[in-house]
Amino acid sequence: MKSKPLKTDRSLAKIRLAQPSDLDAVVYLLGRQLCEHRIDTASEQIKSVIERILVDTRLGFVLVAAGPDGKPIGVAFGTSILGIEHGGTSGWIEELYVLPEFRERGIGSQMITEFIRVAARLGWRAIDIEVDVDHRRVESLYGRHGFQPVPRGRFCRKLDKK
Ligand SMILES: CC(C)(COP(=O)(O)OP(=O)(O)OC[C@H]1O[C@@H](n2cnc3c(N)ncnc32)[C@H](O)[C@@H]1OP(=O)(O)O)[C@@H](O)C(=O)NCCC(=O)NCCS
Repeated sequence: MKSKPLKTDRSLAKIRLAQPSDLDAVVYLLGRQLCEHRIDTASEQIKSVIERILVDTRLGFVLVAAGPDGKPIGVAFGTSILGIEHGGTSGWIEELYVLPEFRERGIGSQMITEFIRVAARLGWRAIDIEVDVDHRRVESLYGRHGFQPVPRGRFCRKLDKK
């Protein structure tokens, strides 16, 4: 089967590392994504994580897609881990989000391309992604960027908050 080419309209959005001045826009976009995934994390908690990541790339990094007027219309949030599976530092694309009105014009794809470039520059050895069962449509996008499925399940045990 012939694979679908990567679709991009590079004039629509510019992908760049988020700056501290993007904090509120990033928190807003991530809040929208978590809402679409029915995850109930308080904005203050999102904000406190992003504030730390924006100033310390050892923890991860955030990309924004700036739209035609320069305002962020998409976000990719990467969090790093030091582990033995990949033999060192690797990371997750924990969130990837484009506002609905800007979807299917290549912005998600542009963000993944840039994410891979930044992660490689930071020395990450691999990038993991988890796909929500209700958002499996995104698998074709990841596949076009070389991500392979991993046959595993995920479990989570919440810990009491102090
Ligand atoms: C996933 C997402 C970031 C893609 O952004 P985009 O700018 O539309 O992406 P592109 O135009 O570069 O690529 C289109 C691809 O995105 C994916 N996609 C498009 N709309 C989608 C949606 N509503 N939900 C999930 N994936 C979607 C598909 O893989 C599509 O490829 P296809 O046409 O072969 O089906 C965007 O659709 C989104 O924010 N979805 C909701 C959040 C989400 O599901 N994030 C993924 C978390 S794992």
